[in-house]
Amino acid sequence: MNTSILVTGGAGFIGSHATVVLQQAGYQVVILDNLCNSARSVLDRIERITGTPPTFIQGDIRDAQTLDGVFASHSISAVMHFAGLKAVGESTQVPLSYYDNNINGSVQLLSAMQRADVRTFIFSSSATVYGEPSILPIPEHHSRSATNPYGHTKLVVEDILENLYNSEPGWRIARLRYFNPVGAHPSGLIGEAPQGVPNNLMPYVAQVATGQREKLHVFGNDYDTPDGTGVRDYIHVMDLAEGHLAALRYCEAAQQDMLTVNLGTGEGYSVLDMVRAFEAASGRPVAYEITGRRAGDIASCWADTTFAEQKLGWKAGKGIKEMCEDAWRWEMRQSVKD
Ligand code: NAD
Ligand code: WQD
Repeated sequence: MNTSILVTGGAGFIGSHATVVLQQAGYQVVILDNLCNSARSVLDRIERITGTPPTFIQGDIRDAQTLDGVFASHSISAVMHFAGLKAVGESTQVPLSYYDNNINGSVQLLSAMQRADVRTFIFSSSATVYGEPSILPIPEHHSRSATNPYGHTKLVVEDILENLYNSEPGWRIARLRYFNPVGAHPSGLIGEAPQGVPNNLMPYVAQVATGQREKLHVFGNDYDTPDGTGVRDYIHVMDLAEGHLAALRYCEAAQQDMLTVNLGTGEGYSVLDMVRAFEAASGRPVAYEITGRRAGDIASCWADTTFAEQKLGWKAGKGIKEMCEDAWRWEMRQSVKD
C-alpha cells in the first residue's frame, strides 16, 4: 500500500494550500477535518488545481475512535496538524473550547499516532508564542509567553511535543512558527474565507475593496514604527505551504529530531503599506479610519529567517504585491458560482 500524509484541518486556509503542495510533490493526502471552519467545496477546488482528489474523512481530532480508524484504514507515514481554533478574541470568551480543540485535540492525535507507530509530526505553531518581542528580527531562541488562551494553547502543545520527543526515541517533529499568513493560491480557487467579520487585517481589507465593508479601522497610528501603524511579517500562504514540504522532507531524512522554525519572510510591513499594496493590486480604493489601539496588539513583529534557510533550505519568495494580487483574485472568484 502506498503511504499517505494525514493532514488534519486540510479543508482550512493553510491546510488546503499545503495539501495542494503535497499532492503536486507526489504525496497522497488524507484530510481529516470536522468542517467547523471550512466547507466541503474546498475538496473539489483542490482536485481542480491538482487533478487528484484528496481522500476526505469528516471527523474530529478529539475522537480517538475516528483517529484509530483513519490510521487503520490508511498507511500514514506522517501527520501535518493544522486542525484547531485560531481566533485570539474568541479564545478569551470560550477558553475551554480552545483548550479542548487545540490541546486535548493534539494529545488525542499524538496518542493515536503512538498507537499506530507513526512518529513524524509537523505542527502549526505561531509567532504569537513570542509575545512582545524584545529582539527584531525574532530568532527562534527568543523567550516565549502568552497573553491570551489561543497563544497559550500553542505554548502548551509546543511543550507537549518536547516532552514527547524526550520520552521515547524515533520521533521526528517540526514545530513551525508562522508569522502572518495571507494571500491565496494563484488560481483563485482556494483562499481564506473567514466567517462573519474578519479578525485579521488582510481579509478585512479585501472586503473593503469589494464594497462589502465600508472602511477599515486601523488599530492605532501611535506605535513606534515608521508610520505609526503596526508592522508585521506577512507571508504568502503558498510559501508557507512550501515551508511545510521542506520541513516534511527534513523530518523524513532524519533518524529522529525535533526542530523549531520560524516561517516568515524576514520583512516587516505596516498596516498602511498593506492598504496601499492592496489598492494597487485591486485597482480599488480601501477607505480607512484611524481608531484606537486593539487590546493585546504589539507594535512590530518580523522573523529571523536564518535558521529556516540553513536547516530546511527554504526561503519565502513572494512579496506583498503577489500576496495582494492572489488574495484579490480569490476574493473576486468567490462570487463566481461553479
Ligand atoms: P482554519 O480555521 O482555516 O483551518 C483549520 C481547520 O481545522 C478548519 O478546516 C476546521 O474546520 C478544522 N478543525 C478545527 N477544529 C477541528 C477539530 N477539532 N477536528 C477536526 N478539524 C478541526 O485555520 P488556518 O488559518 O488554516 O490555521 C491552521 C493552523 O495554523 C491552526 O492550528 C492555527 O492555529 C495555525 N496558525 C494560523 C495562523 C493564521 O494566521 N492563519 C497563524 C499561525 C498559526
Ligand atoms: C495585523 C495588523 C493590527 C485588523 C494574529 C494573531 C496571531 C496569528 C496571526 C495565529 C496589526 C492591524 C488588523 C483590522 C487593523 N494567528 N489591524 N485593523 O494581530 O499580527 O496576528 O493573526 O496564530 O496569533 O494574533 O494579525 O491580521 O489581526 O493584524 O489595523 O481590522 O493589522 O492592529 O497591526 P496579528 P492581524
